[in-house]
Amino acid sequence: MNLTLKVWRQKNAQDKGRMAEYKVTDISDHMSFLEMLDVLNEDLVSKNEEPVAFDHDCREGICGMCSLFINGEAHGPDRLITTCQLHMRKFKDGDTIYIEPFRAKAFPVIKDLIVDRMAFERIQQAGGFISVNTSGNTTDANSILIPKNDADLSMDAASCIGCGACVATCKNSSAMLFVSAKVSQFALLPQGKIEAKERVMNMVKQMDLEGFGNCTNTEACEVECPKGISLENIARMNREYLCASLT
Ligand code: SF4
Ligand code: FES
Repeated sequence: MNLTLKVWRQKNAQDKGRMAEYKVTDISDHMSFLEMLDVLNEDLVSKNEEPVAFDHDCREGICGMCSLFINGEAHGPDRLITTCQLHMRKFKDGDTIYIEPFRAKAFPVIKDLIVDRMAFERIQQAGGFISVNTSGNTTDANSILIPKNDADLSMDAASCIGCGACVATCKNSSAMLFVSAKVSQFALLPQGKIEAKERVMNMVKQMDLEGFGNCTNTEACEVECPKGISLENIARMNREYLCASLT
């Protein structure tokens, strides 16, 4: 198929940026969206033009790097997938596709379609971990029994890949879904309860410092999340936060 692409081009964080139009031809339905962008870039390089900068790593839905807003939707028109898992069969010959970076104050554009998501890393560093005694007297993890339901819910929360689609989708640029997934994966397990209060207080504090907005329950984040992270995690984080604030 032949497509028209309207792509956000921005030299650096200071540049104002603009939409540029490109044509790509002979795109197979079997290609992934990123492979289609590879075709565009090969064409640009062959003409001595600057290729479009975009983030990617695993290209199999694991790393969370491929952060694109496609036709106004984070990770494009499909559900429960990342941009790298999006296939060109979701589009048709002659389509015009708008491709933009994830937009949020806390995710400044570095170049073209690449944004800086270090804010997520700093939130993780504020509390997204457990402290383990490695003195030689460490208890074997399997000796601590955990109810199956709690283990499943914790595992579901841990499947968040930190892509930032929830932030890009939210009209308030709220990071509540991401932070609540990271809080929940520990809050549900005995190993996470020891530092639970400091964790939720510190992670929420860092989230606010980074400039993310608040949650107003529009629920768009859950719809666009490629890993199906549930809003129940936000409710759990709010409970954890309230309990921690009162004690
Ligand atoms: S909650 Fe979902 S959308 Fe948000 S960072 Fe995690 S995986 Fe991405
Ligand atoms: S490139 Fe790793 S999730 Fe898309």
